[in-house]
Amino acid sequence: MTATVTVAVPATTANCGAGFDSLGMACNLYNHLTLTLSPGESLIIEGTGEGSDNIPHTRQNLIVRCVEQLLAAVGDKRRGIAIKFDNRIPLSRGLGSSSAAIVSGLYAANCLVEKPLSKQELLSLATAIEGHPDNVAPALFGGCTIAYMADGKANCLVYQPKQEVILVAAVPNFHLSTKKAREALPAAVPFGDAVYNASRSALLVGALLSGESAFLADALGDRLHQPYRAHLIPGMEAVFAAAKQAGADGAVISGAGPTLMAFVTAGAAVAERVGEAMSAAFAKTGASTTIHRLSIDTQGVRRA
Ligand code: HSE
Repeated sequence: MTATVTVAVPATTANCGAGFDSLGMACNLYNHLTLTLSPGESLIIEGTGEGSDNIPHTRQNLIVRCVEQLLAAVGDKRRGIAIKFDNRIPLSRGLGSSSAAIVSGLYAANCLVEKPLSKQELLSLATAIEGHPDNVAPALFGGCTIAYMADGKANCLVYQPKQEVILVAAVPNFHLSTKKAREALPAAVPFGDAVYNASRSALLVGALLSGESAFLADALGDRLHQPYRAHLIPGMEAVFAAAKQAGADGAVISGAGPTLMAFVTAGAAVAERVGEAMSAAFAKTGASTTIHRLSIDTQGVRRA
């Protein structure tokens, strides 16, 4: 039988400083996907917005592969797939575009099957496709997430921050693949750096849950991945310093970068100044930027 659904999926920011491959947040910037399933073998792929010029129009398309995986997981035999997307999340910039594609494909297909999977089961499937859970978890559940692997299975705890946090994303005009950014990481880190990150990761969650934002400046430190990726994002330290100087609580690499993300609890006017300061600091390296002032999406993927 033919059936159609439209879903909206949020952008996500992962790591959030010290919480490498674990902490994440959903942001109010969305891709939309309309999926139609039908009998037969037809395949239609149409799209507008970010990346629409470069997306494969075959069954290799990531969204199509995710739709097919979901159908296989529930034993649905339909092979006729039509997708129409409208993308607002920039590609390969550290804002979870691949997770958005994966989650939107799985979730949309799940809306159209007789016996849908739970969100927890979707998290397992999505993590297996993405390779790590920290973007797919907030894309699915919304809010702030602590994702982790246990016995090969992804789990996540979802929470909402007590105080409003504005996320100022400075998106530079160059791409950085997650693969390349992961290849820059060392095989082992000094024990002291692991201790530093364990404390900051816990402190960040505590500060967000309690609303004690004075701790955010310390909580947004990281020694596990950012120092090793700095050379891939020219001007990173200067952009962090400019954001703090303009009133941000702190700033981090969003996911694997190259987007840099400032956390602002001092309100909209400060967030505007922080965006300008980050943009000016990036400009000194020759990079132009798009600034997004985002809030935390509390719902995750949903029917639109
Ligand atoms: N935790 C991942 C990384 C997020 O930093 O490599 C990017 O998808």
